[in-house]
Amino acid sequence: MKIVALMGSPREGSNTDTIMDKVLEGAREAGAETKKFKVWDLNISPCQGCMSCRETGICKHYDDDLANLVTELGEADGLVLGAPVWGGFVPGQFKMLFDRLVGAVMSIQPSAEGVQVISRLPWKKRNGISIAACASPAKEMTEANIIFLNHFLQLHGNGGDIREIRAPGLGEYGQVRMDSDDLEKRLEAMGMENPGMMAVQSEKINQDFLHSAYEVGEKMVKEF
Ligand SMILES: Cc1cc2nc3c(=O)[nH]c(=O)nc-3n(C[C@H](O)[C@H](O)[C@H](O)COP(=O)(O)O)c2cc1C
Repeated sequence: MKIVALMGSPREGSNTDTIMDKVLEGAREAGAETKKFKVWDLNISPCQGCMSCRETGICKHYDDDLANLVTELGEADGLVLGAPVWGGFVPGQFKMLFDRLVGAVMSIQPSAEGVQVISRLPWKKRNGISIAACASPAKEMTEANIIFLNHFLQLHGNGGDIREIRAPGLGEYGQVRMDSDDLEKRLEAMGMENPGMMAVQSEKINQDFLHSAYEVGEKMVKEF
């Protein structure tokens, strides 16, 4: 089984990247082959809005990394999509890729009920996981990202299971990897009262996050 992941933070070792790696570790331990694409490393040009790919599935403007990525997505038996919240939504670079994917992986077909949007990817039931990290402590801040990612997973999952990982309260680089010593220093610098106690609590939250990410990755494969 092959799991393909699209990582939408520019920073390696970031919160999104770390959570995604845990998901993929769980999937590998359960027997899957995994492939992660860091969206910032891909050569993807911005969509020109001509809509011709909706007819053909092929972009007539660019010969960049899109076609190869579409092949990889088609081979996937499971999808993991992750992006930090930037200005309440996914980062522009990540959105730019998804703009290009619209006609490449979707087509609009007439049906008895009117027009129907269908996936161009080979039909497979694909389990999917969406990941959204943000600085705000409010989980709702991740909502727009999760809706956006789930929309893609629904269309290409053909009834596969979808799980969400919402990771609020992560304002620092790699915060989700920090132990209580690192967290205490950070909280002290922020002028928090009782930094020691808060750091122990935050470390537990980090561990729970990563543990549940691992479990979700494992389940994605085991419950296939
Ligand atoms: C340009 C930019 C915009 C951001 N906008 C938001 C925002 O609207 N809401 C929020 O809670 N955090 C926002 N953040 C914080 C990130 O979502 C947060 O630090 C996240 O953990 C970063 O994920 P990463 O470590 O995977 O890159 C923003 C960060 C950047 C760089």
